[in-house]
Amino acid sequence: MKTTTKLFITAGLVSICAATSASPSSNVAWTVETHRLVKGADAGIGAKLETVETEDVNACIDCHGVAGAEPDRDKHPTLAGQVAAYTFKQLRDYKDGKRRNRRMQEAVERLSNEQLAALSAWYAEQPIPEVEFDPDDTVSEDTLKLVFVGDKTRMIQPCASCHGSRGQGAIIDVPAIAGQNVKYFVNTMRDYTEDKRTNDVYSRMRIIARALTRDEIKELAVYYAGLGGRQGGSGLIQALIDGSAFIKK
Ligand code: HEC
Ligand code: HEC
Repeated sequence: MKTTTKLFITAGLVSICAATSASPSSNVAWTVETHRLVKGADAGIGAKLETVETEDVNACIDCHGVAGAEPDRDKHPTLAGQVAAYTFKQLRDYKDGKRRNRRMQEAVERLSNEQLAALSAWYAEQPIPEVEFDPDDTVSEDTLKLVFVGDKTRMIQPCASCHGSRGQGAIIDVPAIAGQNVKYFVNTMRDYTEDKRTNDVYSRMRIIARALTRDEIKELAVYYAGLGGRQGGSGLIQALIDGSAFIKK
């Protein structure tokens, strides 16, 4: 009797998965235990872990900089100021092979869930950093509309509705995208469009990324990079947030 029930459930799961994709996009479920693990993590342990290197694997700081704020190359993401639950989910996704990148998969292979949570807590404690970007880059009014209004004709929800009005991220695991490197931002959006990054639950980002043009993605990356280090205050900051500091004259 027990076996029959189990078989039935398995068959049900397989058909649900087949309807969306071959397997679930992530194994991370936001259960009470997972929340506790991430919320209760010790950032001090994370601070130590980010400097640890082994014979064949570099330390996190070698690629992401101290406290995730100064990536050594601009294709490496900024981690400082990131929402802890998002970082934890990504680290688990790499470990589970749900997000593919050889260097990252090697970096997290030996780490326990507790250690991944400690690293996530450490990065979340840092301020969102200022990042370098080309001051000649501008953002058009149409692109700003995508941020705050979206585009119903293409079923694009405004970025700010999920990522926050200042790109600071949101619960549970919606990432901060303010202060992100332009090149990494563009690369990861391309990976979503080409199905190379498929760990976004319900394909939320794949659907949006596919609906955007390359120029729009580049301008969105520049806009969000410009919000780095400018998470509070008014005046210039407001101009950056509402986009008037960027709009092409
Ligand atoms: C050899 C260089 C290298 C090392 C060492 C490394 N990373 Fe990474 N990391 C990368 C690259 C490159 C990416 C982007 C990969 C991709 O596009 O999926 C990345 C992505 C990430 C992401 C996803 C960021 C996001 O915004 O989605 C996190 C989190 C992260 N790394 C944390 C760590 C931690 C923690 C360590 C140490 C345990 C570490 N990394 C070690 C190169 C590295
Ligand atoms: C329906 C909610 C939602 C909307 C709307 C949305 N996003 Fe996202 N976005 C997410 C979630 C959730 C993730 C993380 C997915 C995962 O777990 O990998 C994400 C991830 C991203 C990432 C990758 C971040 C990183 O560090 O790797 C970028 C870049 C991004 N979004 C940009 C945008 C832009 C630009 C827009 C507007 C055009 C937008 N998003 C609209 C929910 C949303």
